[in-house]
Amino acid sequence: MVRKVTLALASLALAAAFTSSSVMAKQVVIKFSHVVAENTPKGQMANKFKELVAEKLADKVVVEVYPNSQLFGDNKVLEAMLLGDVQMAAPALSKFERYTKAVQLYDLPFLFKDMAAVDKFQSSEEGQNMLSSMKKKGLIGLGYLHNGLKQLSSSQPLRVPADANGLKFRIMASDVLAAQFQAVNAVPLKKPFSEVFTLLQTKAIDGQENTWSNIYSKKFYEVQPYITESNHGLLDYMVVTSAEFWMDLDDGLRSEIKALLDESIAFGNQVALKKSEEDKQKIIESKRSEILTLTPEERAQWVEVMKPVWKEFEDEVGKDLIDAAYNSNM
Ligand code: LMR
Repeated sequence: MVRKVTLALASLALAAAFTSSSVMAKQVVIKFSHVVAENTPKGQMANKFKELVAEKLADKVVVEVYPNSQLFGDNKVLEAMLLGDVQMAAPALSKFERYTKAVQLYDLPFLFKDMAAVDKFQSSEEGQNMLSSMKKKGLIGLGYLHNGLKQLSSSQPLRVPADANGLKFRIMASDVLAAQFQAVNAVPLKKPFSEVFTLLQTKAIDGQENTWSNIYSKKFYEVQPYITESNHGLLDYMVVTSAEFWMDLDDGLRSEIKALLDESIAFGNQVALKKSEEDKQKIIESKRSEILTLTPEERAQWVEVMKPVWKEFEDEVGKDLIDAAYNSNM
């Protein structure tokens, strides 16, 4: 009798273990890797996605968020995605150059006058088509996420392009950004985001370009005495996944995940709008960095020297695409 009960209990335990392991096996794990702080548009978007998935799809999907380059730096994450080591990321559009030339469009200086123009272009057919421009390389764009327009920070006041002469600027890995700084006779250095603070602090470089939220959350303003409010370029993101991972999901589940992602992106875009103003104010209040506002004449000088970069990349990006993006300002 005792032996029978023991056997029955053992088989029950086995069945339970089997059931739980088969549930576990079915649960999709999405590792979301990014390089910025949690209190940024991208950090908050990723956390929102994790929350929504936990709320609505808990038995089927789990999202793990790795901020601050904890899992992968921006120079490694796409390779890791193709190897299946991470399932989602939202690199800056400047970081896709190795996978698509068209996306270089977004780095052209002074292309968009404000975020409304960016929205208009990204929701157009041309903008949406760019999301699938890396499919053959194994990457699928699931949506655009905003951060905002970039400002120039430096160890010296930058009012006119000649002030940048000979200074070293950290840039993201983008040839367009390199050309933009070469146009003002500065020296561009491609470096991962995780290294920027130390490079500035040790004065290995003189300056960098970024949005208010990145300058604030990564404390660049504490080691850069001047920030020129230039709004000269765009820092936006593409939320990407690997085609292999995405197409392997069951159709219904894929749509459910996509809907929650869209909701998180919409939330992130609101955060971006708010943070751009709030973080600028916090930097002003800190008095660690002086904010320089350009006169229209000074700004016109930057436009004049940087705009020829468009022509330089016209063949790679495509004139029609540049025209379409520019026309979104109208
Ligand atoms: C940078 O490298 O400057 C930014 O792209 C970081 C980020 O992801 O916002």
